Amino acid sequence: MAASKPLIAGNWKMFGRQADLGEIALLASRVGRVSEVIDVLVCPPAPMVAVAAWRAKDTSVLIGAQDCSAVAADSARTGDVSAAMLADAGARYVIVGHSERRTIFGETDAVVRAKAEAALTAGLIPIVCVGETHSERAGGRLGEVVARQIQDSIPQTGGTFVVAYEPVWAIGGNATPTLAEIADVHDLIGKTLAGRSMGARILYGGSVNPKNAGEIFGAPGVDGALVGRASLKADDFSAIILAHPAAS
Ligand code: PGA
Repeated sequence: MAASKPLIAGNWKMFGRQADLGEIALLASRVGRVSEVIDVLVCPPAPMVAVAAWRAKDTSVLIGAQDCSAVAADSARTGDVSAAMLADAGARYVIVGHSERRTIFGETDAVVRAKAEAALTAGLIPIVCVGETHSERAGGRLGEVVARQIQDSIPQTGGTFVVAYEPVWAIGGNATPTLAEIADVHDLIGKTLAGRSMGARILYGGSVNPKNAGEIFGAPGVDGALVGRASLKADDFSAIILAHPAAS
């Protein structure tokens, strides 16, 4: 479904130090007024969210986080970071259910849904990630897996959320699905969401770079991107943002 404003989000993963937050001001200056027509988001590691938000406050760059607790209320959960704390630190969005969280940390759809709902409770916009592994795709289970992840991971409580389609096999490599494949999965996600969300934006993620971004943004149903490696440097990330048709 068509969304009014694209979203291009950078996921720094477990990379970067406070010294790297200078990239945010550089990014803001590179994208300039384009951020009036495209939401530009940077999600640094949790300890850097507050400083990043402070440094971005006079720019149009939004700050988000990469994960949050599944528990909304303040509670005895050593090491966990609540969505309310991230909102308090200046985050506006939070990524939940990234495949690295699902695979390395064993997060289930139910956990991802709880995190998305906790984010909404705190006033954050969750970016709910879904995507098939290489073997699920090879086994012809792409549609079934993605539809199940959507059905079981998206918040039930209502509110604004974003979905990121990130084929696991495309993350951190050089391969991406064809544009037709991306369009098909975005269409499937849109149909699975139908009646359950008002205009959720559907991002593509997985090896987006300055060279392929323009084509990917042109695929039907793509409302923006979730970018890993290429979001760490303002040069690359701004080139991706400026490749969006809305930027010209
Ligand atoms: P990548 O990562 O752009 O480095 O492939 C995307 C992601 O994991 O969100």
